[in-house]
Amino acid sequence: MRICVIGAGYVGLVSAACFAEMGNQVVCVERDTLRAARLARGEVPLYEPGLETLVRTHLANGQLRFSLRLEDGIAQADIVFIAVGTPSGEDGSADLSHVLDVAHELGARLRHACVVVTKSTVPVGTGERVAQSINAGLARRGLGIRIAVASNPEFLKEGSAIDDFMRPDRVILGCDDPDSLALLRRLYAPFQRNHERLLCMGVRAAEFSKYAANAFLASRISLMNELAALCARLDVDIEDVRRGIGSDRRIGRHFIYAGCGYGGSCFPKDVRALIRSAEQQGLDAPILRAVEARNVEQKRWLFEALQAHFDGYWQGRRVAIWGLAFKPGTDDLREAPSLVLLDALLAAGAQVQACDPVATAEVARRYPEAVASGRLCLSESPYTCVEGADALVLVTEWKQFRQPDFLRVRSLMRMPVLFDGRNIYDARELSALGFLYRGVGRPM
Ligand code: UGA
Repeated sequence: MRICVIGAGYVGLVSAACFAEMGNQVVCVERDTLRAARLARGEVPLYEPGLETLVRTHLANGQLRFSLRLEDGIAQADIVFIAVGTPSGEDGSADLSHVLDVAHELGARLRHACVVVTKSTVPVGTGERVAQSINAGLARRGLGIRIAVASNPEFLKEGSAIDDFMRPDRVILGCDDPDSLALLRRLYAPFQRNHERLLCMGVRAAEFSKYAANAFLASRISLMNELAALCARLDVDIEDVRRGIGSDRRIGRHFIYAGCGYGGSCFPKDVRALIRSAEQQGLDAPILRAVEARNVEQKRWLFEALQAHFDGYWQGRRVAIWGLAFKPGTDDLREAPSLVLLDALLAAGAQVQACDPVATAEVARRYPEAVASGRLCLSESPYTCVEGADALVLVTEWKQFRQPDFLRVRSLMRMPVLFDGRNIYDARELSALGFLYRGVGRPM
């Protein structure tokens, strides 16, 4: 099939590369000149395992192309995916300006009937607005065609995006037009493997399902973080509790890890957008508000724990941070807990030494003054990072931090103190090695 994907962000780029991998002819339209030029050379501007190889392979065999021009991308397309960003607006609602701009452009430029699909995460009713805008444009041009707009929310996770896309748990197709649905079913047939994974429903239900999934997952994390706070007071280890409840099939083992808060470009933004959406309907959403509030508080936890440890005295303190990306497997720093910690430490006057396998360049870009003044030192080695430190903080559980040589770490640090923001270490083992260890929701 001939596919056009508009927007070469995380979702657009991964979708374009994976559709090409399944044998489709794909044009990915990106209006940022520099980004498009880099992509056309096979340089992927984000860190996602396997993505660059896929992009290069299909650029080389001609199945994938990047273009600056929308006309070029849509000229032959059977299906057009809108995969542009929907960032948080000032009031927390999803900012739909990029999506609606694309809809307007499509109405002004489409010359043939095709299926338009929103892949961006968009509030209920957006598909209808997109369809109205496109069809009004087409009617103005007297072309006599009408476009159906479907919703196909994307559920990939950063760090495992290719695998998630190629082997999805489910594919949601929100479509109210039978012919368009038949085409989308054909496109996704090869992604199903041996089970039926296509879930077909109306456009509005598909749009809502995406927010509901993220709200549900975020709620599990915030609930675990709240239970962890109580565990710490009651001298109970949340890790025992996690195992205890995770074995109940109704709860499940995934996504119940207490930690220093959830980040990324999706959970925080989508929970806020859903709260706003409820408010717009005259409803309160106290559970969602609590999920968000708990997370904001949770991201402060590491700093508060350090502050208590140092009795609020920061003069000459060196803090080492392992992991800056919002989670392992990505260089994405959006809404990362590390940023809250970095801001608080720098404001308190601490000397910070931080390391991350892939995100240091982006941190340097965000904190130019702290880096220039030497108050923030970035490195790629976990050992250089801890030299002379009064405390080490594990923020992102990259594999390379899981089993370090703790004797070496201890010998390099000024004080063997470890705050484990992801509960990946064995508290007893570290205590036996002479570390003062603190985890999230674990006995002191
Ligand atoms: C999330 C969803 O998992 C995807 O299904 C969805 O497609 C995506 O958002 C999106 O809306 O586009 P992602 O943001 O890549 O994917 O990251 P997750 O792996 O879900 O992690 C989110 C945050 O939750 C991370 O900061 C992670 O450290 C934290 N987390 C996750 C916990 O604190 N505890 C857990 O048990 C799991």
